[in-house]
Amino acid sequence: MSHAKAILIGEHAVVYDQPAIAIPIPTVRMQVQLTPRSDQQQLITSAMYNGSLQAAANSRFAGIAVLIRQLLIRFDAVTQGFGLNIISDLPPERGMGSSAATAVAVVRAFHAAFSAKLDHAALLRWAGISEHIIHGNPSGIDAATCSADRPQWFIRGQKPRSLALPHTGVLVIADSGIQGQTRVAVAAVAQRLQMDPASMELITGLGILTRRAAVAMADDNFATLGAIMNSAQSKLAALGVSNEPLERLISSARANGALGAKLTGSGKGGCILALAADADAAAKIATALIAAGATQTWQYDFAK
Ligand code: PMV
Repeated sequence: MSHAKAILIGEHAVVYDQPAIAIPIPTVRMQVQLTPRSDQQQLITSAMYNGSLQAAANSRFAGIAVLIRQLLIRFDAVTQGFGLNIISDLPPERGMGSSAATAVAVVRAFHAAFSAKLDHAALLRWAGISEHIIHGNPSGIDAATCSADRPQWFIRGQKPRSLALPHTGVLVIADSGIQGQTRVAVAAVAQRLQMDPASMELITGLGILTRRAAVAMADDNFATLGAIMNSAQSKLAALGVSNEPLERLISSARANGALGAKLTGSGKGGCILALAADADAAAKIATALIAAGATQTWQYDFAK
């Protein structure tokens, strides 16, 4: 089992060692069922890929396939037949952590099937195998949050820390319906920083905003948190990872009472995140976002 995540603030900057804050979304779940087979067939069923483990090497499932192969070696079970069934509520390539959630759930399912202990650091190392193949240069924030039950303060290479939750407030997540591409967006930012080193100011600026956001969260100061989210969106747009459909949803959320709104995840598609003062405000924002073209919305209530 694992679940979705939403990055509240700090995406992209986190690749360059700045902090980020990410929230686990336990209601949007990823389940992996692993059943032994008496023949030697190794079969995968999922929304993304159906077929043998061997044939997965040339598919969108290739990163997870490499992870499974390494798990089979670890458990001395390379010829063991199995059926692996992935049942996911997460839309793929929308910045909700689908690939990391799959990796986390697969690693847990194999360790459970072989009755092996798995501590959190080892879980993240395993998940990093497929995340590197799928994303190129992952910070690790997705796997950390898809396996956590508390909001995470994350700095690359350090042990993730749980953060204090605000006591009220609701996050509304809305799917633009457009696939983002984490690998492409992360590479575009890297290229931009190489061509224009002055844009590193945007990255350090995002790091400062993330630190201020942690203080605003601890103080239940939603007006400030919303304003910080809006500033982060301006910096992400300046980095080149926003686009017109995301900007349309962000404007709609702000026009309908959001205290702040920004893209979440790698951008260039995927989801946006809006901060609402309470459940009534969140319902109004969610309705407006659907009217503005969002294909789906989710809510995360800080009070629950
Ligand atoms: O996988 P996504 O789209 O949620 O993006 C992850 C966040 C990035 O900062 C863009 C990349 C990373 O590995 O931290």
